[in-house]
Amino acid sequence: MIVKPAAESIVFNASTTVPGDKSISHRSIFFSSLSENTVRIENFLFSEDCLRTIEAFINLGIEINCSDSSVTVTGKGLQGLSKPSGNIYAGNSGTTARLMLGLLSAQNFKAVISGDESLSKRPMKRVTEPLGEMGADFKGNFLPIEVKGSRLRPIDYRLVVASAQVKSAILIAGMYADGVTAVHQDYKTRDHTERMLKSFGAPVSIAESVVSISKTDYLNVVDFAVPGDASSAAFLVALCLLSSKAKITVRNVGINPTRLGFINVLKRMGAKIDLNIVLKESDSEIGEPSADITVTSSNLQGTTVRKEEIPLLIDELPILFLLFALAEGRSYVENVSELKVKETDRVNSVLSNLRRMGADVETTGEDVKITGVDRLNAGELLSFSDHRTAMVNIIAAVFAKGNSYIDDIECINISYPGFVAELKSILSDQVEFR
Ligand code: S3P
Repeated sequence: MIVKPAAESIVFNASTTVPGDKSISHRSIFFSSLSENTVRIENFLFSEDCLRTIEAFINLGIEINCSDSSVTVTGKGLQGLSKPSGNIYAGNSGTTARLMLGLLSAQNFKAVISGDESLSKRPMKRVTEPLGEMGADFKGNFLPIEVKGSRLRPIDYRLVVASAQVKSAILIAGMYADGVTAVHQDYKTRDHTERMLKSFGAPVSIAESVVSISKTDYLNVVDFAVPGDASSAAFLVALCLLSSKAKITVRNVGINPTRLGFINVLKRMGAKIDLNIVLKESDSEIGEPSADITVTSSNLQGTTVRKEEIPLLIDELPILFLLFALAEGRSYVENVSELKVKETDRVNSVLSNLRRMGADVETTGEDVKITGVDRLNAGELLSFSDHRTAMVNIIAAVFAKGNSYIDDIECINISYPGFVAELKSILSDQVEFR
């Protein structure tokens, strides 16, 4: 795709929404499939990743019907899954694969989980190791992995890597183990699994640094709506902040605090951002608050992102790197090692494009230092088939001097279908995308 900025200063006043939250959409299919009820999920994210989760559960014998913006799942209970025919294919989706490894650990059949080239290189030992301690049996530490379900024992486990996917896989397996399974975390990670399971009546206890679950007899899942994805909204927030004179309201975005690390960082940088609550946590069927987020163009100063903040903004670091590259002064990010094991090594994929555009970036060990420049130059940018890298490239290109070429935008459908159409509508003739 070619991005041709027609105006040097970008001006707009917009009000919009973003598609449903990816993490919550995945979990909505997992827990509805295991519930005793027929559940209607509104504002489901029909992206490539979430479609892999739907297909996986259809393969496990669950009836799932999709309409324009909702999904209806006929749950079969915690013991209702049946042996799949062929592999369960997770595509590019780490959440599908890792949560599924947890669930299949407890079934009374064998199954194989496979994925695309990127997912087959991503570490799975972080889940197979604790699940193995619970009694599950795996062949392989990288996909494809064969899982032989077993009767599970509970564990008391301290997360080695700060990962919500690992924590979720253990909690899902913990629903089937006799006794109390506890996951301790040194750093907070996103907590959708425990919020949703608690709302659906599972015996979950949530404390500051430990989450535990007891053997679960049934899940009572009621109809609910998925809030907008804060990680997708982050790209529109960045677009507005970098514009000369702009204002945007992104309506109905999930504001779970474990997802808002990027807003805290941006506020430290001087960003003008207001949140107007539309749904309180206590009024949400799934314990997930949401808000309208209003942003106004701002002059940004560099900041330091501490390592304990990383899990709370891991998916937003790519777009934050761009904002650091155009902020005044220096920004430091401590310990980006987890960013290297995402859909791509995002330290390399995102920063190599920004460097090519003239950004001042240094990496030392696991840390990143970025010194702001006034403007980036256009360039030939590579997406590496990574949705978030592709979206950073596009936003960077909107503010660059000259016309940029981006090799692959198809991969954006993994998390944010309609992203380019949204930009076209917000920016109208100020930028040409073709
Ligand atoms: C996710 C957790 C995060 C995030 C991923 C989705 C989830 O991964 O990067 O996009 O749905 O639980 P980790 O928890 O493994 O870092």
